[in-house]
Amino acid sequence: MKRAKITIIGAGNVGATCAVWAAQKELGDIVLIDIPQCADKTAGKALDLAQCGPVLRFDANITGTSDYAPAEGSDVVIVTAGIPRKPGMSRDDLIQTNVKIVGSVCKEIAKVAPETILIVVSNPLDAMVYTAWKSTDFPTHRVIGQAGCLDIARYRTFIAMELGCSVEDISALLMGGHGDDMVPLPRYTSVSGIPVSQLIPEDRLTAIINRAKMGGGEIVKLMGTSAYYAPAAGSIQMAEAIVKDKKRILPCAAFCDSEYGVGGYFIGVPAVLGSGGVEKVIEVELSDGERKLLDASVAHVKELVTIADGFLG
Ligand code: NAI
Ligand code: 2OP
Repeated sequence: MKRAKITIIGAGNVGATCAVWAAQKELGDIVLIDIPQCADKTAGKALDLAQCGPVLRFDANITGTSDYAPAEGSDVVIVTAGIPRKPGMSRDDLIQTNVKIVGSVCKEIAKVAPETILIVVSNPLDAMVYTAWKSTDFPTHRVIGQAGCLDIARYRTFIAMELGCSVEDISALLMGGHGDDMVPLPRYTSVSGIPVSQLIPEDRLTAIINRAKMGGGEIVKLMGTSAYYAPAAGSIQMAEAIVKDKKRILPCAAFCDSEYGVGGYFIGVPAVLGSGGVEKVIEVELSDGERKLLDASVAHVKELVTIADGFLG
């Protein structure tokens, strides 16, 4: 059987960690690409990771380079290139720099891997997914943003911490953009089938939701740069669903037109991920209150896209 190929653009904290999780799961061959000034460092990271193979028991060709040719024929390309936020910065503060970076790397990818599925991670996420789409002209089902897998993982972690139970037993849903106005949905949150509202009092649940919403900022404050273990784990969860055609239902930034009445933007929604990319957006029932929160989050995404459009030229 032919091995899948996963290319990761940007071999910094998130990108290099994506490579580690992908190798550990033996998802396929891995190509790490960074800027020419970091070519040796990227080659070194690839070699270092390849040398984990005998210990962790995976077989994969791992390449680190600044050249796009090795990305030819990639099944999945994960875009992590760009600057991360520093303390005091919001994700939105990164937009001008990252539109240029994401736009340029996606154009290169479209040349060598025109059939690939793009998973965009760079921030501000919702505007960067749009930038990737505009820069490649790929069909919308092959352009997806990673945010929900991370945000929901944070939410599930905090619920498990509160209950002292296994994180595996928490099932939850979260929608909207990857900003502080993301929308975790307690009505769609359960613990081994038990509605979370029966296990956690409302005031505690509200505190957990707020902590999940601000989860990125909490880590930036602690580390001086943004998170990377969980963001990379979320990105590889999506890549795995695609390369193994698992048809997983994951929260991703997917193109929504009539769906949720969004009108042609990439928004965090539950979607079926398989070898075709986003194979279906799932529409769930929302209460008036949930709808209002989603609409506010969508309005923010639209503002960001307008700003990104200005820099795209
Ligand atoms: P980092 O600074 O550690 O790595 C970024 C890498 O991109 C660097 O190695 C840099 O040389 C490279 N790069 C810059 N321009 C490039 C270009 N033109 N071509 C190829 N590579 C290029 O940053 P980190 O922490 O890995 O974050 C990367 C991005 O991911 C940031 O924008 C960050 O905000 C975002 N992020 C998104 C998350 C999400 O859930 N969507 C979560 C965490 C981070
Ligand atoms: C995070 O949520 C900064 O988007 C990044 O950790």
